Amino acid sequence: MKNLTGPFTQILPLTGLPLKGALRDEQLQVISNGWVLTNNGRVVTIGPFERLHKDHPSAQIEKIEGDYVLLPGFIDCHTHICFAGSRAKDYAMRIQGKSYLEISKAGGGIWDSVIQTRAADETLLTDLLLQRVERHLAEGVTTIEVKSGYGLSVEGELKQLRVIKAASYKTKATLIPTCLAAHLKPKDFEGTQSEYLEYILHELLPIVKKENLANRVDIFIEDGAFKADNALNYLNKAKEMGFDITVHADQFNPGGSAVAVEVGAVSADHLEASKDKDIKLLANSDTVAVALPGASLGLGMRYAPARKLLNAGACLAIASDWNPGSAPMGDLLMQAAVMGAAEKLSNAEVFAGLTFRAAQALQLTNRGTLATGTPAVVQAYPCNDYREILYHQGKLRPLINLIK
Ligand code: NIG
Ligand code: FE
Repeated sequence: MKNLTGPFTQILPLTGLPLKGALRDEQLQVISNGWVLTNNGRVVTIGPFERLHKDHPSAQIEKIEGDYVLLPGFIDCHTHICFAGSRAKDYAMRIQGKSYLEISKAGGGIWDSVIQTRAADETLLTDLLLQRVERHLAEGVTTIEVKSGYGLSVEGELKQLRVIKAASYKTKATLIPTCLAAHLKPKDFEGTQSEYLEYILHELLPIVKKENLANRVDIFIEDGAFKADNALNYLNKAKEMGFDITVHADQFNPGGSAVAVEVGAVSADHLEASKDKDIKLLANSDTVAVALPGASLGLGMRYAPARKLLNAGACLAIASDWNPGSAPMGDLLMQAAVMGAAEKLSNAEVFAGLTFRAAQALQLTNRGTLATGTPAVVQAYPCNDYREILYHQGKLRPLINLIK
């Protein structure tokens, strides 16, 4: 079934742009008063009404009233939104100046979310996840990566991954699951860090593969989480099993992004503490650098060096890191706009980071642009100039699901 939808004051198809490096707004293709022709939910072409209507007279016409700027739906390539409970106590302690260790000793930190998530049954966890997914969808985020990592046992991780799968059948958003069993060595595991990673490799990942629960594996490389050498060994083995690799890297200390590049990870995420040599490594690799401004805002810390990464030639994606601890807000557009202002990113760089460059981090070839053949997963902002979107720093909200 063919549909012809428009007119849109501007359409930004985000096609024909380089995957890596700095972008200027002048490089954006901006189609004025364009219409979108779709066939069974996929983009066929974009152009003026007269031509498309003449070439496809049987297409059903859907007229849009008012000024709208049309973009591909955003892709959030890093979230932890499958969790139960709250960590508001951590936040209150942190803004009083308490350290990570003090918060953890007072019963906060990742382990607190593990306890609260383990205690939730699958129905509750699915409901909580879907509420967050629907909020993201209403804010224009149509493809969402979701990590486990609050189970930290075979049973707990499988529960989270099964919940993510169940939720994916109940929403119009596309959910991409990632196994983050290596978030932290759980307090109830008796053994060393490398023994825990071996346990995951032998007891959990084969089931994740067999049940097709995820094809991505993540690890948190950091003082107090996992050491670089243990991580390298774990990730190489996970890769041999056929998993794509992504890494929580250089959040507080450098070291993780070098491991990510060495194993050929699809992305290295966080990077707030990356040094110039890490930036260079990332820029010379195929690993996508993912900035997580929501974590910088939640923790009151510096942003990832997004400007430097782009100038060095890296592929920069921007994701929310939405999680109960460091990034509870979860408003991706607002976060990207605010970081963009601080880091002096162009509109083109921010939109690329939220669309086709984020698709690259998830190895999705058919998302993040309005190229011919891509699913017509779009959002339209009520304005007449695409520059209004970031200018309003998240306060301009899109219409979604307007193309059949
Ligand atoms: O990406 N850095 C590690 N993990 C998360 C935080 C998760 C949590 O605090 O619950 C992050 O910021
Ligand atoms: Fe994270």
